[in-house]
Amino acid sequence: MNPLDRFHLKHPIIQAPMAGVTTAEFVAACTESGMLGSIGAGYLDAASTRNIIRAVRQLTDKPFSVNLFVPDEPVFDQQDVRRAYEALQPIGEQLGLPFWKAPLSEPEFDGQLQVVLEEKPAVCSFTFGLPSMETMQALRQAGILTIGTATTLEEAAAVQSSGMDMAVLQGSESGGHRGSFAPGGPLVPLDDLLQQAAGSLEIPLIAAGGIMSASRMRELLHAGACAVQIGTVLLAAEESGAAPAYKQAVQEAADDRTVITSVFSGRPARGIRNTFIDRMDGAPLAPYPFQNDLTKRLRKEAAARGDAEYMSLWAGTGVSAAGSGTAAELLSRFLDS
Ligand SMILES: Cc1cc2nc3c(=O)[nH]c(=O)nc-3n(C[C@H](O)[C@H](O)[C@H](O)COP(=O)(O)O)c2cc1C
Repeated sequence: MNPLDRFHLKHPIIQAPMAGVTTAEFVAACTESGMLGSIGAGYLDAASTRNIIRAVRQLTDKPFSVNLFVPDEPVFDQQDVRRAYEALQPIGEQLGLPFWKAPLSEPEFDGQLQVVLEEKPAVCSFTFGLPSMETMQALRQAGILTIGTATTLEEAAAVQSSGMDMAVLQGSESGGHRGSFAPGGPLVPLDDLLQQAAGSLEIPLIAAGGIMSASRMRELLHAGACAVQIGTVLLAAEESGAAPAYKQAVQEAADDRTVITSVFSGRPARGIRNTFIDRMDGAPLAPYPFQNDLTKRLRKEAAARGDAEYMSLWAGTGVSAAGSGTAAELLSRFLDS
């Protein structure tokens, strides 16, 4: 039984939650096109999470999902953070910011959960780990469908044991942050992960990572997935909030120039290789989320200058197949391919 059936989606496709580039217009356009749209709320505070849920509701009355980052408890070491800041300074200088303020973020997870329980989106998905049993129970009582993210068979089994309704299997091809429960887990390609999970788990599976065509989608549905989740193929949509230089880099990537790197945030994520990644190779990094906090102002400055060499250009291995147009046009091209 596929829990997504209750939503009568036109296509068995979830628009990947994409924190940092999500706009209400993008989520609503994807939802209206027949996919399950997802708000990537990972970097938002509770009030902004509520605002974007309400903004999507102004634009569509169809069901959609909200995605949250499950926080771990990083150890704050002043020396580590200072060293990481100093390692970034040559790049800051180049961007006209020899010194910049880098306020450290506080987890907003509990406040966001409260908003989700009050606003009751149809679906709530999680990445970077699993919420507590109490949270799972509260979500179930609120009638919210739950989805956990797994990058290995062990994580998928943990998603199943936690009581989640479904698991996203995030293959190593995926763009953006790896949803691993802890950084540094093994890289498992989607086909292997799906084969392992379909053979041993009961929970319905959603396949993600490098899916750029309907023929690839059909292959994965045939191999046991009940839906797919697509991100990179929709990233440069007109409604997406990605900066213009980012969209251009995604559209121009002629081949797979993506790598997995921790230099922007302290957590492994796949993106288009650029000068920032090369210059920071081997440099001391602060753990997530502190590295993310340290680089935020620099990435913002690079985006304002239209300089893609110093921005985080998250994208999956299929990036060369990403095009431009509205979300509806991109979906229709995906379905024809
Ligand atoms: C720009 C970007 C941001 C992302 N942000 C999130 C996020 O906030 N939460 C999440 O669970 N996954 C996030 N992901 C991963 C996607 O959910 C999904 O696993 C991935 O896009 C699938 O691979 P593909 O990009 O090759 O289609 C992000 C991916 C991208 C490209």
